[in-house]
Amino acid sequence: MSEEIKRAWYKEMAVYQVWPRSFADGNGDGIGDLKGVLEKLDYIKSLGVDAIWFSPLYKSPQKDYGYDIADYRDIQPEYGTLDDFKAVLKGAHDRGMKVIMDLVVNHTSDQHEWFKKSIEDPDGPYHDYYFWRKGKGKRRPNNWMSTFAGPAWEYNEKLDEYYLHLFAVEQPDLNHDNPKVREEVKDIMRFWLDMGVDGFREDVITFISKKEGLPSSPYYFPIGTGIENYMHGPHLDEYLSEFRHDVLDKYDCMTVGEAPMMTTKKALHHIAEGPDQQLNMMFHFEHMAADCMFFSWLHTGFKLKKLKKVYTRWQKDLYGRAWNALYIENHDQPRIINRYGSVKYRVESAKTLATMYICQCGTPFIYQGQEIGMLNIALDSVDDYVDVSTHNNYKVARSLLGEKKAMDLVHYASRDNARTPVQWSAEKNAGFTTADKPWFYINPNYTEINVASQENDPDSILNYYRKLLKLRKENEVLIYGSYEEYYKDSGDLYVYGRFLDDKRALVVLSFSEENVSFTAPGGFDLSKGKLALSNYETCGAVNNGFTLRPYECRVYLFD
Ligand code: GLC
Ligand code: CA
Repeated sequence: MSEEIKRAWYKEMAVYQVWPRSFADGNGDGIGDLKGVLEKLDYIKSLGVDAIWFSPLYKSPQKDYGYDIADYRDIQPEYGTLDDFKAVLKGAHDRGMKVIMDLVVNHTSDQHEWFKKSIEDPDGPYHDYYFWRKGKGKRRPNNWMSTFAGPAWEYNEKLDEYYLHLFAVEQPDLNHDNPKVREEVKDIMRFWLDMGVDGFREDVITFISKKEGLPSSPYYFPIGTGIENYMHGPHLDEYLSEFRHDVLDKYDCMTVGEAPMMTTKKALHHIAEGPDQQLNMMFHFEHMAADCMFFSWLHTGFKLKKLKKVYTRWQKDLYGRAWNALYIENHDQPRIINRYGSVKYRVESAKTLATMYICQCGTPFIYQGQEIGMLNIALDSVDDYVDVSTHNNYKVARSLLGEKKAMDLVHYASRDNARTPVQWSAEKNAGFTTADKPWFYINPNYTEINVASQENDPDSILNYYRKLLKLRKENEVLIYGSYEEYYKDSGDLYVYGRFLDDKRALVVLSFSEENVSFTAPGGFDLSKGKLALSNYETCGAVNNGFTLRPYECRVYLFD
């Protein structure tokens, strides 16, 4: 079995995601920055991760907190300078960690030179860098709606034309059908790779090819109408292959593409190993919909069975053919304990959720604050929120459900839940900044939940993550082993095995606040296994089973 699986560094690593604005403030102005990152490199390394992915650090008006880029080759002044970045890059490399940049090329900022020039000179070379179209009489060029709500077209009076923006108004979409745009993208890649970065997380990369003629959609949703015309567009293969052959293949680097609405079948098309492979991995979203329909604003309530089904499909369909990217949090997702875990059993459920995904086959990504079990925040007024999509989704929700339910949804689903400053200590401003005021609200629970208090507690969530990542690193079966699910019909337990040659692992996870009894599946004799990790004071197995306490998890290893 082990010969089937190709080894690679990017498969063995674990990645820590930094969302720079809220990570650590090094110069005391209330905003996270590169100096702050530099000071925390030892901390990041201490987790046992092998790479850092930076959400955008580039120059940006921050309308979408860096995902609206005004200069792809410079650093946002609030975060530091290019030299500060180089110091972080060197500091990471010196510690044996790789650095992955966010490549946001589906769109730019409306403050990017290209966009400004596309307006200044409609006959010049930059006009066709974007999707400029005449209206249809008084109507927009088509009926597409942006992902952040509102129409996907913005009118420009000077040109009497509209431009396409699948996200915020200030994020005009780049026209990748123009070969010059693709050359620009490749140059940007080379710029960072030549500097020494080790790869890219490619933002909504599966949206870069739009169907010819930009046809209107027969369907209507308040958000994302028209998505069938670009979520997996006609030239996507071609453009991704071009990026790979012209640039990526020339470097020892990795890529992970963000891919909303992705299925295993479509994913294999892009990430199956072999000469036609376009990306190393993909961030799909299917497992982030176990408590909702498609995205967290369409909240339904957490269903473990739905989650297990998705996980098993991705584990099985990709095994030996492609590689999974594993995550349960990032800067776009509310905190996972509030969604799939239990606030009452915060510590136990945090560890179970960590074990659940990190012991699967794939490269695990950990989002800042996840490793200490940070929780959602609930601010009183929608005006306190700063995320553009929160405001837009709130408006849609209020018009359909009323103020109270819309506000409940803000509390549950806002991306700002993940964007509060990292809670470093119980000191003023959670140790995030020495300024009087941080740029955004700090969760008032920081006096209880913070890095400092967990550092020296052997049973903390933080130290559990360290043990878990070490266990994965030391046991190839947890990295490369195949996957088999048991007790599929259970709504309380998630149980799976991993297999590599003569090594086996059994992962047993409870999602219940009650005790649940468990007997090992056929082929696993617990008396012969080694209990390698658990989130409770352990007690042995009797008759090849045991009773799981609330949110208990166990990992057994067998030789
Ligand atoms: C991705 C990013 C998100 C951003 C959007 C538009 O989904 O993760 O933060 O708002 O793309 O760039
Ligand atoms: Ca700062």
